[in-house]
Amino acid sequence: MKKNWQLPSYDDAKRRRIEQSEVIYNTFNLSEDQKILGKHKSYYIRTYGCQANERDTEVLAGILEQMSYTKTSSIEEADVILLNTCSIRENANNKVFGEIGQLKHIKTANPDVIIGVCGCMTQEEVIVKKILKTYPQVDLIFGTHNIHHLADLLTQAHFTKERTVQVFSEEGDIIENLPSTRAQKHKAWVNIMYGCDKFCTYCIVPMTRGKQRSRLLEDIIEEVNQLVLDNYKEITLLGQNVNAYGKDRQMQDGFATLLEAIANTGIPRVRFMTSHPWDFTDKMIDVIAKYPNIMPYIHLPLQSGSNKVLKLMGRRYTQEEYLTLFDKIKKAIPNCAVSTDIIVGFPNETEDDFQKTLDVFNHCKYDNAYTFIFSPRNSTPAANMESVNSPQENKKRLLQLNELVKKYSLERNQEYINQTVEVLVDGFSKKDESIYTGYTPSSKVVNFKADDINIGDIVRVKINKVKTWYLSGELVK
Ligand code: 5AD
Ligand code: SF4
Repeated sequence: MKKNWQLPSYDDAKRRRIEQSEVIYNTFNLSEDQKILGKHKSYYIRTYGCQANERDTEVLAGILEQMSYTKTSSIEEADVILLNTCSIRENANNKVFGEIGQLKHIKTANPDVIIGVCGCMTQEEVIVKKILKTYPQVDLIFGTHNIHHLADLLTQAHFTKERTVQVFSEEGDIIENLPSTRAQKHKAWVNIMYGCDKFCTYCIVPMTRGKQRSRLLEDIIEEVNQLVLDNYKEITLLGQNVNAYGKDRQMQDGFATLLEAIANTGIPRVRFMTSHPWDFTDKMIDVIAKYPNIMPYIHLPLQSGSNKVLKLMGRRYTQEEYLTLFDKIKKAIPNCAVSTDIIVGFPNETEDDFQKTLDVFNHCKYDNAYTFIFSPRNSTPAANMESVNSPQENKKRLLQLNELVKKYSLERNQEYINQTVEVLVDGFSKKDESIYTGYTPSSKVVNFKADDINIGDIVRVKINKVKTWYLSGELVK
């Protein structure tokens, strides 16, 4: 094996070290040559998966721009192509392999292009082996813990013309002050923590993103204060389980304390995701209810309504505990919208277990839900469980569940008829460029016509029509 190669290892990725992660400032430095490596060259990044990846892409873009690369929207014209991948389910992986296959013709037409694959998929041993064996068009492979090394890796790939692979399985320290180019001017992602220690039995994330590491509260507040100065209207705090913020730093009530400090920065809208039902404290509910700039919208993954399946999933709550929390949230936070994630077809899920999921859904009448068929992931305990249902059975359950998702989404939207809501203007409708689109505090999409408004404005719209997935209305002057 070549000396400059570092391949991932599942065993290392599963291990949890007791040392608290350190915070490193101002470690990012480019040599004079690196600062001009991308002059007259362009980059293209395709991002898959969740908001953590969206945020990572902003950092990758920031580093590339400091190296003088400019962004292009044409993959054919790019000198550097990066695929920032997701491995949460098998179909996410398949999509990326299809895309890598497509890139072969670009490499043939332009052998100087550098094609890189990064993100969660490259943390998987088998995936890296497959890319190395099957896809010679890939020049560069790096993992989620190697993002801050992009400049060095790219320099190496560029000058040696050899394949460069660097995937650390052990997470590093928290690196502050990396450059980043934010995708939007009015809404921003803010990482509050990295990694996950929950080890739900189906989930690959604790392996791809490492152990939980919380950023320091003062660093987060400094970032948010800067966003306020830059006229940002909304931030979304990101973490695999934001409720556990600060636990790895022995903070008491870490997330409630952070949320309150952020609300006090005066940023007009604060959102956060994702919450695990297990760590959701009363103090958090109080803070969300108290501050009008904390948006009344909570994503609260249920995964299953059956206690048997929840136990097999390692979720650490029961259906009853989930419902108690749900009812408490609804009571304390008026008009709070709640969405959820559900997996159907987990090993050993019977028709009766599935019915329990439907029962919870009928109780909660979620505003929205993201529904998935169980997908076995490499090196997770659930991948080795027996009694997997037939694909037909799982598909049937998913379709049945999705009917409920639609039913309640429409029902919830109907409550907005004749109401006037505040909408943060996001852009234009994809179907009709003369129609503006934006979000209510409860995260409902609103389409409306208007003149003389700008993206990033918060306007008032009276709702006069609703569909399953959006509301429509008229601007109130
Ligand atoms: N199979 C299916 N769905 C999964 N999710 C996570 N891992 C898997 C898996 N192996 C879903 C969960 C999670 C969401 C982000 O993706 O519902 O909350
Ligand atoms: Fe996909 Fe999970 Fe990685 Fe996000 S953290 S990119 S959802 S595997």
